[in-house]
Amino acid sequence: MKKVLITGASRGIGKATAKEFAKSGHHVIINSRNISELKKTADELGKINEHISYYPCDVSDYNEVKKMFDSIGSVDVLVNNAGTAYLGLFNTMTPSDLRKIIDLDLISVLNCTHIAIQSMINKKSGSIINVSSMWGICGASCEAVYSAAKGGINAFTKALGKELAPSGIRVNAVACGVIDTKMNDCLVPEEKAALEEDIPLGRMGRPEEIAKTICFLAGEESSYITGEVIKIDGGFI
Ligand SMILES: NC(=O)c1ccc[n+]([C@@H]2O[C@H](COP(=O)([O-])OP(=O)(O)OC[C@H]3O[C@@H](n4cnc5c(N)ncnc54)[C@H](OP(=O)(O)O)[C@@H]3O)[C@@H](O)[C@H]2O)c1
Repeated sequence: MKKVLITGASRGIGKATAKEFAKSGHHVIINSRNISELKKTADELGKINEHISYYPCDVSDYNEVKKMFDSIGSVDVLVNNAGTAYLGLFNTMTPSDLRKIIDLDLISVLNCTHIAIQSMINKKSGSIINVSSMWGICGASCEAVYSAAKGGINAFTKALGKELAPSGIRVNAVACGVIDTKMNDCLVPEEKAALEEDIPLGRMGRPEEIAKTICFLAGEESSYITGEVIKIDGGFI
C-alpha cells in the first residue's frame, strides 16, 4: 500500500485520480481549500477504501504546504493537480491576476515537490506526477499566463526527472486536453460544441481517462519512464 497525496482533489481530475488510487487499496490523502467540499469527497472515497484522509490548505502558500507535510508525514506518491484557469486577454490582466495564476498553477507544484522530495531522497524512491496542459506545449490565445505556468511545469518535470533519477525518484507529467470538469463550466453549450469539433476524437476527455494514466505513472508498470510529459488530448495538438 502506497501513501499518495493528491492536491486539488475535492472534485474533477483530482477526485477521479483519488478514486482510482483508492480502488487499488492505497492510502490516499486528498487536499483542496474548501473543507466542506473536501470532507464530502473524503466521505465518498471512504466507501471504497478505509485509508482515506484529507487536509485542507492553499498549496500556493509554502508555509501552509509545510504545515500539511508536518501533519501527514512522508508520501510515496505526489500528484500535483491543484490548478485554475484564466480566460482573458493578457493586456487586460492586473498584476494581481498574473501573480495569482503563476502562484497556483506553477509555484504550488514547486512548493509541494520541494517538501515531498526531502523524505523521498532519504528513501531513494518516490513518484511525482504533475497535472499540466496541452497549452503548456503549444500555447493558447487568451490563456497566456496559464500557458506560461503549464509550460513551466513541463520544463520543471523534464529537468527534475533528470536531477532526481539517481535518487530513485521519477517525475512525470500529463498534458491534458479539454476535460469535462467544473473548470470548463464557463463554456456555453455552443462553445463546447465548437471545441469538440476541433478535437479529432470528437469529444471532451473524462477525468477518469486522466486518472488512469496518472496511476500508471505512479506504479511499477512505468518504472522506466521519467522526465516525460504525456499528452492526453484526444489528438487535439
Ligand atoms: N479541465 C481541463 O480541461 C483541464 C485541461 C488541462 C489541464 N487541467 C488541469 O487539471 C488540474 C485539475 O483541474 P480540474 O479540471 O479538475 O479543475 P476543478 O474541477 O476546478 O478542480 C480544481 C481543484 O483544485 C482545488 N484548488 C484550487 N485552488 C487550490 C489551491 N490554491 N490549493 C489547493 N487546492 C486548490 C479545487 O478546490 P478548492 O477550490 O476548494 O480549493 C479543486 O479541488 C488543474 O491543474 C488544471 O490546470 C485541466
